[in-house]
Amino acid sequence: MVNKICCIGAGYVGGPTMAVIAQKCPDIKVTVVDINEQRIAAWNDEDVTKIPVYEPGLDAVVAEARGRNLFFSTEVDKAIDEADMIFISVNTPTKTYGVGKGMAADLKYIELCARQIARVATSDKIVVEKSTLPVRTASALKDILDNTGNGVKFDILSNPEFLAEGTAVEDLHSPDRVLIGGDESTEEGAAALKALVDVYAHWVPRECILTTNVWSSELSKLTANAVLAQRVSSINSLSELCEVTEADVNEVARAIGMDSRIGSKFLKASVGFGGSCFQKDILNLVYIAKSYGLNEVADYWEQVIIMNDHQKGRFARNIISTLYNTVSGKKIAFLGWAFKKDTNDTRESAAIYVADILLSEQAKVSVYDPKVEEYQVYSDVDYLGTRSSEENTENLTVFNDPYEACKGAHAIAVLTEWDEFKSYDWQKIYDGMLKPAFVFDGRRLLDEKQLKSIGFQYQTIGR
Ligand code: NAD
Ligand code: UDX
Repeated sequence: MVNKICCIGAGYVGGPTMAVIAQKCPDIKVTVVDINEQRIAAWNDEDVTKIPVYEPGLDAVVAEARGRNLFFSTEVDKAIDEADMIFISVNTPTKTYGVGKGMAADLKYIELCARQIARVATSDKIVVEKSTLPVRTASALKDILDNTGNGVKFDILSNPEFLAEGTAVEDLHSPDRVLIGGDESTEEGAAALKALVDVYAHWVPRECILTTNVWSSELSKLTANAVLAQRVSSINSLSELCEVTEADVNEVARAIGMDSRIGSKFLKASVGFGGSCFQKDILNLVYIAKSYGLNEVADYWEQVIIMNDHQKGRFARNIISTLYNTVSGKKIAFLGWAFKKDTNDTRESAAIYVADILLSEQAKVSVYDPKVEEYQVYSDVDYLGTRSSEENTENLTVFNDPYEACKGAHAIAVLTEWDEFKSYDWQKIYDGMLKPAFVFDGRRLLDEKQLKSIGFQYQTIGR
């Protein structure tokens, strides 16, 4: 039985996941550790609305469990040593150097964790891969743990996380399934697997807890993200065809989605998918396929990314061509910077790439997002390295008020589907803009009829 859990990595996955485990398993002490002191301090902030991850409902979960059986700490060694079960939930970004640059997952943080666990552990541990990892990573982990440890026993499980940001708490409370990969052929392997099943069984119905071998579990995570992203790229590719044929992509999505074999979810045309997972995980899948010499498999999945890049680019290029082929010196207001609504996460957000293209055309970009902080917006464009940080600061402005962001603009671009955008005083926004006043709705969010009756020139995706 598991009494103490340690989770290495207090990010978008480690934080919410462990908060819910602690909430649902009051008998288990859960300690989430991170080397990022600022992040841990924010998780411990007395004002629970200041926790570093914005997710609807998460503040209440943290308030319930924190200090009772949920702890956030920078004392990584101590938490490792006292735990029976250790989740590794550190970041696994795309490599930015060396072999596999721009494609493979960078596993340096994972390996550091494994070496640290091996060095510190003085009793047997169940080590759980919570991070998304290339298939067969567990064997590398096992090698490191067994060869550098203190003679204690390590059992490795794969337990990928399927939560989506913005609905993390809901997804964790009632997951479609929990997937646990382990080695049932040995007694210890089966016991480790059962220990983790028992943790989830505190609140997840047994029939929703799926157990597989480790490799299937590792690969299922990459596959799930690839298939979800593929649906978005599929509908986005058709949005472009709709625009030239007078078909409407929402009507097409509805018509095909009612076929129970297809299903209605993940068919919403957009300015392109973002988020920390889809692109990274597909690139990783492509890299893995290539490394086994499976070039057709690699090409097939790479097309999902190519289509997504095209969608982001054509949204930006359409703004430029509609504004009479020049945006130089023109103010373009962005509503939304996060990669989807109800999150403050901006990783790989389409907004970043659209802004980058417009800035290269000398536009003045103004940004309003309900949850994203100013420094994050600048750091996102600076990270691309297209121009100097001074130039970005000069041409990009972040506003705390949407009406100010839109005042004096030639055009508004909707990049995130935040609900609040729908209920703005659009007449007031129109009155403050230069004419003709354009709206480019990258999320098919706003009321076209209403906007057109006010006088806006309205364009959206897939119609
Ligand atoms: P994140 O960047 O938000 O958090 C990772 C944290 O790990 C950071 O705070 C970092 O400081 C910490 N860390 C790194 N190395 C460490 C070390 N050696 N010791 C202690 N702390 C360390 O990342 P995330 O979004 O939480 O993603 C984590 C993993 O989960 C990734 O593999 C990702 O692919 C996967 N995942 C993410 C999501 C999502 O929605 N974000 C969903 C499912 C799976
Ligand atoms: C995704 C997976 O859904 C989740 O299971 C996994 O654990 C992590 O990666 P996330 O990236 O948080 O979750 O959000 P998701 O809802 O999948 O959206 C990803 C991107 O696709 C967003 O930019 C979203 O706006 C876009 N999207 C999604 C569309 O453009 N159309 C859709 O129909 C669905």
